[in-house]
Amino acid sequence: MTRKGIILAGGSGTRLHPLTLVASKQLLPVYDKPMIYYPLSSLMLAGIRDILIITTPHDLAAFHHLLGDGSGWGLSISYAAQPSPDGLAQAFHIGADFVGDNPSCLALGDNLIYGQGLSEALAKADGANTGATVFAHRVEDPHRYGIVAFGRDGRALSIDEKPQAPKSHWAVIGLYFYDGTAVERARSLRKSARGEYEITDLNTTYLREGALQVERLGRGFAWFDAGTHASLLEAGEFVRILQTRQGQLIASPEEIAFTSGWISTDDLIGHAERLGQTDYGKALMLLASEAAAPAK
Ligand code: G1P
Repeated sequence: MTRKGIILAGGSGTRLHPLTLVASKQLLPVYDKPMIYYPLSSLMLAGIRDILIITTPHDLAAFHHLLGDGSGWGLSISYAAQPSPDGLAQAFHIGADFVGDNPSCLALGDNLIYGQGLSEALAKADGANTGATVFAHRVEDPHRYGIVAFGRDGRALSIDEKPQAPKSHWAVIGLYFYDGTAVERARSLRKSARGEYEITDLNTTYLREGALQVERLGRGFAWFDAGTHASLLEAGEFVRILQTRQGQLIASPEEIAFTSGWISTDDLIGHAERLGQTDYGKALMLLASEAAAPAK
């Protein structure tokens, strides 16, 4: 069965007010692209092409305007509304029919992951047929995240959501791979004390059965959740610096679709032309010409 992707791009974005009073957080720019391009690219790098985008009822039209049905990037994109933000695990209530008993991957719409070997890590997670895989990254401020405690043997012992007394500095990032039982498990969850269906509770159902793989992404990786003014700016600066220095795009759906063989060189040139004389468009045009000649 093929793995289904979900991007959760809802929420009220209160931590980004007043930016998010009129625009969805996940459509705000992270340097040269709308934020949602980054989690979308993570799913695409994992080879996932059938994707459901969940957002607020009033933001649906804007996401649709930006991404359409996904066919231009060799994807199939559909949409669903989340009328009230009742937690991340609610994605599997809203997306129950879409996911069914297929394996899935949930990506949070404000998470940006970058690093050498990411594709391999994603391929490994995608290759697991049973259980769940999550990724952890070291953070300085563990009280803001889902935090994993590890035993001496390196196995995950527990995950605590926004703990007051964190047991480690390893935060679970917003990219979760599940086997075909996620919908069923999400149905059994009860709301937490803060009134949400917690993704940490869903992950804990796997952990209790010894079926949760926690992959630590080391210092060669960068992870941002662009959920505050400072982290939004930092993520944008990170992308700007790397792209300018290397002359390579980070999280370009066009590039991933092309290198994955989902779109043709002509399709790529069409995308480049639509982006006009931007550096983004020029980078895609260069990619198209390099495909015909050896890399310089
Ligand atoms: C959510 C999850 C948390 C995770 C984080 C990653 O928190 O609940 O476990 O570590 O995403 O971005 P939120 O940012 O929605 O408060």
